[in-house]
Amino acid sequence: MTGPHPAPAAVVTGLGTCLPESVVTNDDLSRHLDTDHDWIHSRTGIERRRRAAPGTGTGDLAAAAGAAALKSAGRDDCDLVLLATTTPDRRCPATAPTVASRLGLRAAAFDLSAVCSGFVYGLTAAAAMITAGTCERALVIGADVYSSIVDPTDRGTAVVFGDGAGAVVLERGRRDDAGALLHAELGSDGTGADLITIPPGADHLTMRGREVYTRAVTTMTASARSVAEAAGWSTDDINAFVGHQANQRILASVAKRLGLPPERVVSNIADVGNTAAASIPLALADAAAAGQVRAGDRLVLTAFGGGLTWGSAAVVWSDTEPVCETRA
Ligand code: COA
Repeated sequence: MTGPHPAPAAVVTGLGTCLPESVVTNDDLSRHLDTDHDWIHSRTGIERRRRAAPGTGTGDLAAAAGAAALKSAGRDDCDLVLLATTTPDRRCPATAPTVASRLGLRAAAFDLSAVCSGFVYGLTAAAAMITAGTCERALVIGADVYSSIVDPTDRGTAVVFGDGAGAVVLERGRRDDAGALLHAELGSDGTGADLITIPPGADHLTMRGREVYTRAVTTMTASARSVAEAAGWSTDDINAFVGHQANQRILASVAKRLGLPPERVVSNIADVGNTAAASIPLALADAAAAGQVRAGDRLVLTAFGGGLTWGSAAVVWSDTEPVCETRA
């Protein structure tokens, strides 16, 4: 948008992450599962993932990532804490109020359930609340401890998922500010609910991987294209594509269909696997720390996951320095 008074927008001013210390390599998994490093690496791009220590829950990682994001923003308060997660600490109440309390906040706080799309859903919802005037500054956290819901004997899921948390601080600003979220779009298709699910009465996640794979490629491509168009960007204008880290081959296929060269695709799946709602902020933090994403860059963030759900956001990056923590 141009003109003397750019419209209000939600602006990213902080980025923080927290990963568990414990690293589980493909070789570690193949000692107990009928799999091997070459299969996992060639089919997914994953080399290792992090696993939370027994007793460490989503709230622990979320609070640490939230504190890191506030530190990155140079702030110590906010009036909304929105936690996207599939693995809340309890079924009731939500985990977000406890996370807010641990950060010393009496902010509005709620959990959001959109599986691997949770962070983009959360970003979109918080941005809408900011531009509507409901809140001034929001902490949007994606945190998941999938090791608590994955069947360790199921090689189709046990090799794929990892634990982690990532967060951003969003505050009220203007569309021409660095960090502005320019456009977002969300979607769902509940006819695919059985493709990634914890079946009623079961404790563990099941995934029909091949079907999810196909749907992920086509849907992420369409969603990324549509949000870029809405932001007024051509493919050449996109400096970096920050997609949900579900599978390196999915990221490569989407990039190819979009016409993006590999160097503009952000990827940290080799190190962390699929961390569900934490995936996009963790990837963004690694890219920002490595200088792959710089101030002024036009980013397309695109997620896809259980529900089925998906979403994309067009963001102009700022000079925000990520703060990255680890804990047991
Ligand atoms: N090690 C060795 N072999 C494995 C294996 C593993 N960890 N997991 C599955 N296999 C086997 C299967 O048993 C199957 O064997 P068969 O041909 O003898 O029946 C074969 O490999 C192919 O299985 P398939 O599930 O079709 O593999 P795939 O190439 O589709 O890879 C995923 C599986 C999960 C990595 C892949 O489907 C995927 O990434 N899906 C998308 C996930 C996603 O996008 N999620 C988004 C939201 S979270």
